[in-house]
Amino acid sequence: MPKTLIEPFRIKSVEPIRMTTRAERERLLVAARLNVFQLRAEDVLIDWLTDSGTGAMSSRQWGAIMEGDESYAGARSFYRLQAVVQDITGMKHFVPTHQGRAAEKVLFTAVCRKGELVPNNSHFDTTRANLEYLGVEALDLVIPEGLQPALLHPFKGNIDLERAEAVLQVEGHRIPFGMITVTNNTGGGQPVSMANIRAYAQLLRQHGKPLIMDVCRFAENAMFIKLREPGYENTPVREIAQEMFSYADGCTMSAKKDGMVNMGGFIALRHDTWVDGVRNGLIMAEGFPTYGGLAGRDLEAMAVGLEEGLQEDYLRYRLRTAEYLGERLEAAGVGFVKPTGGHAVYIDARTVLPDMPVAHYPAWALCNALYLEGGIRGVEIGSVMFGKRLADGSETYHRMELVRLAFPRRMYTQSHFDYAAEVIAELRHKAAGIRGVRIVRQPPFLRHFTCECEWV
Ligand code: F0G
Repeated sequence: MPKTLIEPFRIKSVEPIRMTTRAERERLLVAARLNVFQLRAEDVLIDWLTDSGTGAMSSRQWGAIMEGDESYAGARSFYRLQAVVQDITGMKHFVPTHQGRAAEKVLFTAVCRKGELVPNNSHFDTTRANLEYLGVEALDLVIPEGLQPALLHPFKGNIDLERAEAVLQVEGHRIPFGMITVTNNTGGGQPVSMANIRAYAQLLRQHGKPLIMDVCRFAENAMFIKLREPGYENTPVREIAQEMFSYADGCTMSAKKDGMVNMGGFIALRHDTWVDGVRNGLIMAEGFPTYGGLAGRDLEAMAVGLEEGLQEDYLRYRLRTAEYLGERLEAAGVGFVKPTGGHAVYIDARTVLPDMPVAHYPAWALCNALYLEGGIRGVEIGSVMFGKRLADGSETYHRMELVRLAFPRRMYTQSHFDYAAEVIAELRHKAAGIRGVRIVRQPPFLRHFTCECEWV
C-alpha cells in the first residue's frame, strides 16, 4: 500500500480564492480594527477561522436538498432526519434548531435557573455565554494535562473526575446537570475517552444528575477512540459513537461540524422530563418543532451529512490532515497543542512570541501576523476570547495563548496545508516584527467577535 493518504473525494465544483498583496492586507486589517472577524471573507486566501458550517457538501447532500419537504408541520424531511438522529444517539426526542448555540439557549432556558452551576471539561464560548447570561456558573474541569500544550496524552479532553466528584459533593444542590464536550474544542480539539465518559456519567448518576453532551464533533471523537483506546481498534466508528451517546441523557449538536452541513443543529433527549419546556421555548425562538429554524432541505442535507461524517476513510483522512500540519510545524520549531486535534491545529503563540506580555495579547498578535504574512485567517483562543475587563479597568487573562487553525471539511487540499506551513515557519523568523494590540472598544459578552483594537 502506498503511504500517502489521499483526500477520499474528487472535486466537482470549484470556488476561486483570491491572492492579495501584503500592502493590501495591511490596509484591510487596519480597516477591520485589527480584528480578523471583521475582514471580508473574499479578502482572505485560506480561511481557517472555523470548521463550523464552512465545509463542502457532497453531491449526495445536494441531491437530497431537492427532496426537501417544506411543509410547516410534519414534513417528511423531519421524519427522515429524526430516524437518523434516533439511530445514532439512541435518544427518543429529537428537536431541530438552526445551529448549536440555539440548541444551548433553548435547553438551558428551559432547564437552568439563576445561581446554578454546570461542570464541563471546557465550555465553548457560546455555551459559557448562554449559561452566564442566565446567571449560571460555567465551571471548566478538564484534566491538568489538557492545559499543557506541549504534553502528549491520548485523551487531553478528559474531565478531571476527582474534581468533578468534589464539586458534586459540595455544590450538588446547585447542579442541574453535568456536561461534557466531545471533542474538547476550547482545549485544542482534544478527544474524551470512552472510559472517561462512562465514569463521569456514572458519577453524575450517583448524585442523581443527568449528563448532557455537547456533541458537535462526536464523529471525530469516536474516530480518536478507535485509533487510541485499547479495545476499540476493531469496532466500527458508528458503534463507538452509539456507545458514547448511550451514557448521555441528552445532547446539544451543532450540525455545522460533524453534521457536514452549512447550517443546522439539534437537541436530543432520552427522557420526557424536559421535552415540553424545550419545545415551548423552541416555538418562541426557533419555530415549530418539526423544522426548528431550518428549511426542509436543510433537514435533508443533515440526514445525509450525519451519515457521511461517520465514514471511516473520511475520518482517517480528516485526522491525518491535522497531524500532517503538526509535523510540518514541529519541523519548523513552532509549538502547538499536542497531539493535534480533530478539526484544527492550535499554535501555541507563546512559542513564537515568548517575550510579548500577555497584556498585548500574543495569540491575537500572531493571528493578525498570519493574515498579514500569508492571507491566512485563524482565530485567537486566548485572553481576548476568554479574558475579561473588570469594572475597575483591570483584566483577567486566559491560561493559554493559542491560535486555532480550523479546517473546513472536504475543502482544502494538501498544497494549501503546505503553503500554510511555509507561512508559519517564516513568521517564526520574523517574530521580532510582530506587534501586539490594545483593545479600544469591546462589548460585555463574546468580545472577540466585535472588539476594536490598535497596535501597541
Ligand atoms: N459547542 C462547541 C464545542 C462548539 O465548538 C460550537 C461552535 C458550539 C457549541 C456552538 O455551535 O456555532 O452552531 O452555534 N463552534 C464554532 C467554532 C463556532 O468555530 O468552534 P454553533
